[in-house]
Amino acid sequence: MDIESKSCGNVQSCQIKQNLVSHRKSQESARELIATKATLSSLQEASSDCKACDLWENATQTVFGEGGRRARVFFVGEQPGNEEDIKGRPFIGPAGRLFDQALEAAGIDRTETYVTNVVKHFRWEPRGKRRIHKKPNSAQIEACRPWLEAELAVVKPRIIVCLGATASQSLLGKDFRVTERRGEFIDSPLAPKVIATLHPSSILRAPEQSRRSEFERFVEDLKRVSRVLADEGED
Ligand code: URA
Repeated sequence: MDIESKSCGNVQSCQIKQNLVSHRKSQESARELIATKATLSSLQEASSDCKACDLWENATQTVFGEGGRRARVFFVGEQPGNEEDIKGRPFIGPAGRLFDQALEAAGIDRTETYVTNVVKHFRWEPRGKRRIHKKPNSAQIEACRPWLEAELAVVKPRIIVCLGATASQSLLGKDFRVTERRGEFIDSPLAPKVIATLHPSSILRAPEQSRRSEFERFVEDLKRVSRVLADEGED
């Protein structure tokens, strides 16, 4: 992962440039904002000015990842929701509350994890007075990727947990099917262990009769993570 590159020096950066030509923006890539010797706080501060795609225009603020530099578990969701956008913190809305309950049931202490999203601005569309979540598109995901890469490069987690299809496909490839491979440890250069599971929002959206069992399956996936942590012991 190259967090030092500041210009369009590779195919991926050039692709990002091409994808973004139609967007109003004042920088070519988020990479321009990333310092060579980044820390989580310097990254967070720099990300507050990110205009690498169009999402900053309608979002309240950048919602950067949160957690310890030495966190062994690194959770990745899709993008902040309405509450996260307003408060500037990841996974603190309805999906975040379900996530917290599942972490507790699985014996994982959130304060010892790092929690972030593939995309750091809220994408939404109006419905009456409400702001309704809209999935980020591939150009927005690519434009935001340098932030995720930089977070990974600083934290160097033992385990990455992809929450839902957007995070899974963004980190494990577009052909990855979380419904088929959830709960499985996947070989990846990104971390010693990488696992994908459902996004907590999809459990909130599940029909009432299956919500409880979906939650329990989600907890089972998280317990696999917690067992690895226990087996590896404290640092
Ligand atoms: N959904 C996400 O993917 N991330 C959040 O931070 C909140 C909801």
